[in-house]
Amino acid sequence: MSGEVGEGGIYRSRLGKPMEREAAQYLSSLLEDVEIFEEDIDGTEAHVIMLQEQGIITRSDAGKILRTLEELREEWRQGKIKLDPEKFEDVHELIEAYVVGRLGLQIGGKMHTGRSRNDQVALDIRLRLRRRILNLWGEVLRLAEALRLKASEEKKTLMVLYTHTQHAQIGFLSHYLISYAEHLLRDAERLEACYRHVNLSPLGASAIGGSTLPLDRLKVAELLGFEGLVENSIDAVSSRDFLLEAACQAAILMVHLSRMAEDLVLWSSSEFGYVELPDEFASPSSIMPQKKNPCVLELVRSRAGRVCGLLAGLLASIKSVPTGYSRDLQDVKPPLWEIFNLTESTVKIFSSLVEGLKFNRERLGENALKSYASALDLAEALIKEAGLSLREAHRVVGEMVRLCLAKGLTLQEAGLPLLEKASEKTLGRKVSLSLKTFREAVNPASSPMRRATLGSPSPRETLRMLKRLRDEIRSSERMLRLKLRNLEKAERKLRNKVYKLIS
Ligand code: ARG
Repeated sequence: MSGEVGEGGIYRSRLGKPMEREAAQYLSSLLEDVEIFEEDIDGTEAHVIMLQEQGIITRSDAGKILRTLEELREEWRQGKIKLDPEKFEDVHELIEAYVVGRLGLQIGGKMHTGRSRNDQVALDIRLRLRRRILNLWGEVLRLAEALRLKASEEKKTLMVLYTHTQHAQIGFLSHYLISYAEHLLRDAERLEACYRHVNLSPLGASAIGGSTLPLDRLKVAELLGFEGLVENSIDAVSSRDFLLEAACQAAILMVHLSRMAEDLVLWSSSEFGYVELPDEFASPSSIMPQKKNPCVLELVRSRAGRVCGLLAGLLASIKSVPTGYSRDLQDVKPPLWEIFNLTESTVKIFSSLVEGLKFNRERLGENALKSYASALDLAEALIKEAGLSLREAHRVVGEMVRLCLAKGLTLQEAGLPLLEKASEKTLGRKVSLSLKTFREAVNPASSPMRRATLGSPSPRETLRMLKRLRDEIRSSERMLRLKLRNLEKAERKLRNKVYKLIS
């Protein structure tokens, strides 16, 4: 690397000896800091511009430092910067050492004025994390949209809805798909909420107690596109709840994907035969020629598990860190980035997979038609038309199902006489329904049509929910675009200021 500094690094004057090799390797975060390399340059540039505008350093010095930082950025992008953990504790030291090496202590040594690595690293994490959140948010909306589109294709696909993995009520496949689009929309909302906590500037807190120099914290925040400050200087360097929150949101999202994956694995089995996974997303067996394994979905489940584990690790790493900065906090970055890598790649592949799903409508419908899952509709018909209490109706229909099972009949095939028989047996009196009501109630194809409640799978509610979903996805997309535009605007302004000072 050009811009070498002397043995022992730029911070070690208080310590008699250079750091022991093994200790240096153990302690350095340099290799993992690649994730925040450019963020560190961006943050430093904003800081230097503020120092100049506040008259803390001269225009000429600021220009030199900024030019050197831009040269470093270029070298970094060209892969020319060697990362040697034995030489630098982290990216912050490397970058400062580079500038000091190039410009000397007198000028280069001004770059870090009024700043500590404590507020600096908190800043870098926030700069990087906000990008990762916006990317993930975009992917979440893409998946919500894929589910919405599938749902509108499957509005008429009758299916059994399950509780306890047992037939529960009849609905439509669209209802299932809408339910997960709703989950995803809430995931997007959670990311938006957490973005607000992440997109705040900690810079200017110094090591923990602020600075005697006239730093303009708001100026730096504005230059970097932050929506405000983490005001309290202890809070600014010490808090990591912003990243725990982001990790939690990612974990919740992964749990949703894992549950969906679990359903799809089950549904793609020969026993269910509800869905055919796209060949491009399935895996063969090395020995059994007939196999089509849902390996991608299985990995979705396991990666959700890994993300939950990483989250638990983060909570554990942070819970005993005394207030302020301690080096433990260095270790929360790699798991955080891994959580985002795993989550983003999973959401991405899930969208493509959903787009390619082929549902077997006949099989889904057949299973619904054979099912006793319209039993509740029949019980409710008895409540409405025959004036039974729920408990009476429940008993009558329960007995009728038992009789049907013994005879191998569906409710439809058994007909009204068996209902009457069941009522005599359970209530000691004959209860009946009009033939029309009975037929409608026990016909799985028509029972969901008469669901009257908000949010049920009735066709009217399905259409209304699909429309609302569409509006909400669009509005979340608009909000996301706004956040992206704000960042771009700030970035352009910062670039302009950098170039002005350099030239
Ligand atoms: N590499 C450190 C980290 O990632 C930077 C902050 C070091 N701060 C300090 N006071 N030693 O957390």
